[in-house]
Amino acid sequence: MNQQQLQIFLDIATEAALDAGSILKGKFRKLKNIQEKGRPGDLVTEADKQAESVVLKVLKRHLPEHQILAEESGVVGGKNDQYLWAIDPLDGTTNYAHGYPIFAVSIGLMIEGIPQVGVVYNPIRDELFRAAKGLGATCNRLPIQVSQTQKLSQSILVTGFAYDRQETKDNNYSEFCYLTHLTQGVRRSGSASVDLTDVACGRLDGYWERGLSPWDITAGIVILEEAGGVVTAYDRSPLDINSGRILATNGQIHQSLSQTLQNTPSKEIFF
Ligand code: IPD
Ligand code: CA
Ligand code: CA
Repeated sequence: MNQQQLQIFLDIATEAALDAGSILKGKFRKLKNIQEKGRPGDLVTEADKQAESVVLKVLKRHLPEHQILAEESGVVGGKNDQYLWAIDPLDGTTNYAHGYPIFAVSIGLMIEGIPQVGVVYNPIRDELFRAAKGLGATCNRLPIQVSQTQKLSQSILVTGFAYDRQETKDNNYSEFCYLTHLTQGVRRSGSASVDLTDVACGRLDGYWERGLSPWDITAGIVILEEAGGVVTAYDRSPLDINSGRILATNGQIHQSLSQTLQNTPSKEIFF
């Protein structure tokens, strides 16, 4: 894919993210309608729906042929599945519903299955992360880079816990405890795209999580890789974006975090 074309896609994604971001900002702490989608605690609000419809409108206007996978609408858009946009109109809905200001719009584009364009916008921090393959990564138009932390014992990490955490022993609780013990700390922001961009700009050194969907991570993957980071499966094999699992770091701690995740003693907390 030539860089001029990627730049056009990046600008379209930016337009959509800024439009959706202003909806999220406008409705923040003013919600009228909060519902559970299926699992307890898996929320959806009128802000998720309105932000998604704005993103879809922009993408369909500019790129009617492209296929879109959007969290609240499923597969929509055109027939050309060489291009697949993965949209999370509000990543961090639980935070948003509680008035906690950590959330983002996440808009990623896979071309032939490979994440190549990503925009993550947090309208409260007013932070706009953008990247496209080969074009570098920026935050508010300034270049960003991952941290230089070399040792797990000196690192600060972030993770998350999927909505099925009460239903499975594979709920990430053991890994969270073990890594809390081995590092300078493990944070839990409640927004996967914010986690990936916080690693991309060097605020955090690494991120892992299970139970994710492509719309949570496609954009953040591009931003992190373009900022010099590494993204794989837990065992360092190539990432399968549909597996739900991701290991994303500054590169330097990748091997040790991978090994630790694979060797975590199981505590079966709450089972
Ligand atoms: C969630 C967030 C959270 C992660 C969950 C996701 P949502 O997305 O990214 O950090 O732990 O697994 O589902 O529901 O707020 O869009
Ligand atoms: Ca999400
Ligand atoms: Ca969402």
